[in-house]
Amino acid sequence: MPSLAAKLHIKNTQQVLSQALFEAKISPKKIDYIAYTEKPGLIICLQIGKTVAETLSLYLNKPLVPINHLEGHIYASLINQEKECEFPALALIISGGHTQIYQLKNHFEFILLGETLDDAIGECLDKSAILLGYNYPGGPIIEKLALTGKNTYQLPLPKNDDSLDFSFSGLKSEIGRLVNKEGKNINANDLTCSLQNVLAEILTKKLKKAWMTNRAKTIIIGGGVIANKFLRNYLTKNIKKWDKEIKIFIPEIKYSTDNAAMIGIAAYYKISCNHSHN
Ligand code: KG4
Ligand code: ZN
Repeated sequence: MPSLAAKLHIKNTQQVLSQALFEAKISPKKIDYIAYTEKPGLIICLQIGKTVAETLSLYLNKPLVPINHLEGHIYASLINQEKECEFPALALIISGGHTQIYQLKNHFEFILLGETLDDAIGECLDKSAILLGYNYPGGPIIEKLALTGKNTYQLPLPKNDDSLDFSFSGLKSEIGRLVNKEGKNINANDLTCSLQNVLAEILTKKLKKAWMTNRAKTIIIGGGVIANKFLRNYLTKNIKKWDKEIKIFIPEIKYSTDNAAMIGIAAYYKISCNHSHN
């Protein structure tokens, strides 16, 4: 609902800004750079953010740092982190709009290795929740339902091939088919638990495939879907089995779903990299 999103951005931006300054206990004069999300996203919201950033930049006379939303998800795991990210690295981004695997050669040198050919993984969770009669966002509801469920539904492992691409629309259709077939008798706890299991399995398979050819020293996982505790544990446990020396970076839960701090930290690394190149 773009017009609602735009309205809420206009309504909340000033409040969020003053609250952030208040909680961080800094005055605007202490700010050195103004970072903002450049793309991808809902164009009208991006424009509001950019306009606010440009206004602040002009007023404070500080440079603007445009950041890609996906770079934000990658760097979110470096917030409050003591260990350094070693390259080459791999990044898995799982969100409401994206499902992608990147090879990271260095800071901000990313090569896309694979992505979803249809729905994003978060979209699959959101649409499945709606099919089960729940509201958006579906991810947290599915996580909660699955807690008391068992992995009893035989769901297909989607796009289980040699590529690094994903596909999730078939899984959503299968959920729809089961909901229609079983009606009120459907066991939503078991179904969501089974869904989480196939999602975890396919993510692990694809990530392992990417790692086998790239042998990354670091694996980063980002995006709203990694707020899911089952997926966090499943992926971490499996990655450690491949090689326990791999450094795993997963953001704290509050920095997994969309937030401004991830844009701030990506800007910090971008500025530091530019300085070291000069
Ligand atoms: O990164 P994000 O906040 O926004 C986008 O860039 O899309 O990701 C939102 C997605 C939604 O699909 C939402 O259902 C999912 O992340 N999500 C979760 C959880 N929290 C949010 N999925 C699974 N488990 C969660 N706890
Ligand atoms: Zn996001």
